[in-house]
Amino acid sequence: MAKAKRFPLEPIEKASRKSLRELQLRRLKWSLKHAYENVPHYRKKFDAAGVKPKDLKTLADLAKFPLTAKTDLRENYPFGMFAVPMDRIVRIHASSGTTGKPTVVGYTQKDIDTWTQVMARSIRAGGARPGDKVHNAYGYGLFTGGLGFHYGAEALGLAVIPLSGGMTERQVQLIQDFKPALISVTPSYMLAIADEMEKQGLDPKKSSLRVGFFGAEPWTNEMRKQIEARTSLDAVDVYGLSEVIGPGVAQECIETKDGLTIWEDHFYPEIVDPQTGMVLPEGELGELVFTSLTKEAMPVIRYRTRDLTRLLPPTARSMRRMEKITGRSDDMLIIRGVNVFPTQIEELILKQKELAPHYVLEVSKDGPMDHLTVMVELAPGAADAESASRLRHHIKSYIGVSADVKIVPLSTIERSIGKAKRVIDKRAK
Ligand code: DLL
Repeated sequence: MAKAKRFPLEPIEKASRKSLRELQLRRLKWSLKHAYENVPHYRKKFDAAGVKPKDLKTLADLAKFPLTAKTDLRENYPFGMFAVPMDRIVRIHASSGTTGKPTVVGYTQKDIDTWTQVMARSIRAGGARPGDKVHNAYGYGLFTGGLGFHYGAEALGLAVIPLSGGMTERQVQLIQDFKPALISVTPSYMLAIADEMEKQGLDPKKSSLRVGFFGAEPWTNEMRKQIEARTSLDAVDVYGLSEVIGPGVAQECIETKDGLTIWEDHFYPEIVDPQTGMVLPEGELGELVFTSLTKEAMPVIRYRTRDLTRLLPPTARSMRRMEKITGRSDDMLIIRGVNVFPTQIEELILKQKELAPHYVLEVSKDGPMDHLTVMVELAPGAADAESASRLRHHIKSYIGVSADVKIVPLSTIERSIGKAKRVIDKRAK
């Protein structure tokens, strides 16, 4: 049989750790200087902490520099964090956020080129082959998902079908008619697309789709198993955030599916203790922090992502990996003193075959106490009187928290067309 054609890797993806570290150090020096000289906010923060860009002699010296949080970006809304004049900005994106003003990010032409390059690299690492078509169901607009994938796929020479999110019936129709091999979409919306295929009498296992690029929201390995069992897809994880560039910060390689390779020649990762902000030893679980190494328009220095993960040694590429994200520190619910992430509940739901992967967690006050209700649908055609009590029992024994479980009729849980909303918090703020 003829070997399927593959795209070649970039030299840096195979470089030695030593040459990668040298490149990182050189770029890091540039990035700190660029931020210090061109963004008054960074200058103020560095001065207050008593550090200057020239104090960075080794990569480990980065820990001396102050951390940056979303609030720093909000306080400088809309363009205060930009390091170049507006006549060099060619694109502006924003992420809505749950409260207050959106976070605004800008790009120079060179930044767009970098983003395109890391996205093309991601799509290739995820298993794209020459001649593939990409069904892009990430939202186009201020959200970085749609345009990020679009540019990356085009640069690889793939045919992009720019669907954006929504109009699920049409998504299914066009998958049938155009026969794309790749789909880029949030995992929660993929489930809605698979449901719609079944509704139309189509078998999701028989579609043309070969690889799904799933990201923009936390999802578990249990969800991966379920999607792979139900569809024709290999499910790979793609990670990114607007503040750092958009999607394409890290990508799971299809040949290993063992966590996400961080494109560390552009984004330097650290893991810090979320409480103290201190750098943790490699391999420990903590908050992911990124420093951009090449970004011109909006450099980020030690940006706190709030995402919880750990750094892992390289496998398929010379860059380090990060473990699948367990959750965001701000998604963490504290129920009667116990920390609970929606992904922990998702894992338990998916272990019960009769339950559907559609769920939402409602938190309310029961007098002074927090009360958690898990609302989940039964899988189509399933009936099981014991489901709720079994799930309640598992939540209590694996997570250590008492929850009410309500089995709700099919299609009661709102389907997302982008990022799923997993928590409804009814506690008075
Ligand atoms: O969600 C960028 C993106 C688009 C990534 C498409 C992947 C695919 P934001 O809207 O700024 O950007 O949201 C960033 O989403 O800090 C994480 O909390 C979460 N997130 C993104 N990817 C993953 C993932 C885009 N693979 C925030 N797993 C991040 C878990 C993810 N969470």
